[in-house]
Amino acid sequence: ISLQPYNTFRFDYQAEYFALIESVEQLVDAVAWARYKALSITTLGGGSNLLLQGDVSGLVLINRMKGISRLAESASHVEVEFGAGEVWHESVVWAVEQGLGGIENLALIPGTVGAAPVQNIGAYGVEVKDAISSIKVFDLSDLTEQILSPGECAFGYRESRFKQEWRDRYIITSVTLHLQKQPSLMLEYGGLKNVVPDGAGIREVFEAVCEVRRSKLPDPLEIANSGSFFKNPVVDADTYHAIKAQFPNLVAFEQDGGWKLAAGWLNDQAGWKGYRDHGVGVYEKQALVLVNYDCDKANALLDLERRIKGSVLEIFGVELEREPVLLGAAQCQ
Ligand code: EPU
Repeated sequence: ISLQPYNTFRFDYQAEYFALIESVEQLVDAVAWARYKALSITTLGGGSNLLLQGDVSGLVLINRMKGISRLAESASHVEVEFGAGEVWHESVVWAVEQGLGGIENLALIPGTVGAAPVQNIGAYGVEVKDAISSIKVFDLSDLTEQILSPGECAFGYRESRFKQEWRDRYIITSVTLHLQKQPSLMLEYGGLKNVVPDGAGIREVFEAVCEVRRSKLPDPLEIANSGSFFKNPVVDADTYHAIKAQFPNLVAFEQDGGWKLAAGWLNDQAGWKGYRDHGVGVYEKQALVLVNYDCDKANALLDLERRIKGSVLEIFGVELEREPVLLGAAQCQ
C-alpha cells in the first residue's frame, strides 16, 4: 500500500504491511501478528513530522485511537486524557471551547496528539511538555501497557526519548494533559502581544495564533510540507558574537547561556526564500519550511536539504539539523 496519503510531504513509497489502529485491542492483535511474522513495527500519527525517503519494510500502524475524557479535577486544573489518534488541533479547539487553558498557543500545529510528545511540539513560547501529566504507552519489549511521567521522557527543544532510544519500544496510546481552569496567558513570544487585545482570554490568543500561522506557514493540504524543516540551532556565546559582528541583523534569542539562532533568517539571508527547482522548494513566506510541489520521491528534497545546509555552513559556519524524522530505506542515487 502506498504511504502517500499518510505523510504530509506526500512522497509515494510503499509499506510492506499496513493497518489502521482504533483501539488498544486492535493494537494488541496487530502486534501479536507482527511478532508471529517476525516483522518490524513502525507507528505513524498524522505523518506531518516525517520525511519518507523509501519503502518501509514490516508493519506500518496508523494510530487512530480516539477519545477525550475528563479525569481528576482540582481547584485550579482539570486532567484530560486524549487518545493518541486525536487530531492535535481539534484537541486544542476542544480545550478552548471548554475554557481550559495551556495549549491555545499550540493551535494549528499539524499532526496527532500521540505525535505531540515525540518531538515536544512547541510554538509561541509554549511547549507541550509544560502541559503533560502522563503518557500511556504500549511497551513492545514486554507487551504491557505502562504509564510514563514527563520526567522520564527527557523532553528538550523538539526532542524526547520517544524520538531517540524509545523509537522502536513504545507506542503512545494516550496523553493526559493538565489544563488550567483560570488560564494564565503566554504572550511574550512572536509578537503575540501586539495582536492580542487587552483583557483577552484564551479564545483571542487561539485566534491570534491561527492568524499568524496562516499568514506565515503553508497549509499542508494545499502545499505539501512538514512545518519547520530545520531546528533553530543553539550556539555558544562566542560563536554568537562572532556571527553577530559580521551580520549585525542576525536574529537570535538568548537561552540557557547559549543563543538560539533563527534558522529561517539564516536560510533567508543565504538566498533560499522562495527558491523552486525540480518540483521542490523553500516556502516564499518562511525560509525554514521546505515544500514539495509535485515530486513523488524524496530525492530532490534531500538534495535541496544538502545544498541549504552546505550554504549556511559556508556563510555562517553553522550546522543545521533536520527536524522531521527520517523513515524508509535509503535509495541509491
Ligand atoms: N525569519 C526571517 N526569514 C524567514 C523566516 C524567519 O528573517 O524566512 C526571521 C523572522 O523575521 C523572525 C525569526 O526569523 O524574526 C523567527 O521566525 P518565526 O517567528 O517565524 O519563528 P521560527 O523560529 O522560524 C519557530 C518554530 C515554529 C513555530 C514558531 C513560532 C522551530 C524549528 N520552529 O519558528 O515551529 O511555529 O517558532 O513559535 O523551532 C515547527 O516546528 O514545525 C514550527 C512551525
